[in-house]
Amino acid sequence: MANDQEKEAAARASLQFVRDGDVVGLGTGSTAAYAVRFLGERVQAGLKIRGIPTSVHTQELAASLSIPLTTLDEVQDIDVTIDGADEVDPQLSLIKGGGGALLREKIVASATRKFVVIADSTKQVPMLGKFPVPVEVIKFAEALVAKRIAALGAAVKVRTDSSGHKFITDEGNHILDCNFGKIPDPAGLARELERMPGVVEHGLFIGMAALALIAKGDQVIELRRDDRKKR
Ligand code: A5P
Repeated sequence: MANDQEKEAAARASLQFVRDGDVVGLGTGSTAAYAVRFLGERVQAGLKIRGIPTSVHTQELAASLSIPLTTLDEVQDIDVTIDGADEVDPQLSLIKGGGGALLREKIVASATRKFVVIADSTKQVPMLGKFPVPVEVIKFAEALVAKRIAALGAAVKVRTDSSGHKFITDEGNHILDCNFGKIPDPAGLARELERMPGVVEHGLFIGMAALALIAKGDQVIELRRDDRKKR
């Protein structure tokens, strides 16, 4: 599929930002999984890195590829993190969490010097909002938070897994998928969500990505937050 080829191309391009000796945040999702596999190949070829996975799933993938892993208990400064996104806008604000790993993803991104986003061309949007914003919520507050978010104008759905049960995150919480339609002020919405007791984290990543590698056909476009340029 064309999208898979683009995901692979963006992931491959991201490896140029990984240096010998780096601590590397390992993202979650189908695009990030390509990057983890490519890193695994580099490690087999002698690259020395330590990875910090953003989910149990990625931890298992990285371990299966013999990528040495560490944790935030041992290291609090991450050199580079490579992760996917559900949407990327021109300011490199993101919606993340389609795979349910937004909490650990945001924690790892927040401890990272260079957060590199990799995505296929379908993820690039002029304005965030076609993809619902995932909001991780403690179970106790789920209905209350859902009502408060709906009052902001969103259509809110509790995420379920393939067997119809409520999706449980790696940290044991639930996810509300909140469709706001177009989001002209992502920072303002982020503040609203952060004010709600019971919200653990939300999938709006603002001012975090240093650059985005967006694959379009066989080209990879590099967008930087400050000086956007093509390569
Ligand atoms: C995981 O929780 C997400 O943030 C993913 O990074 C995002 O959903 C993109 O996933 P794909 O690379 O599978 O599209």
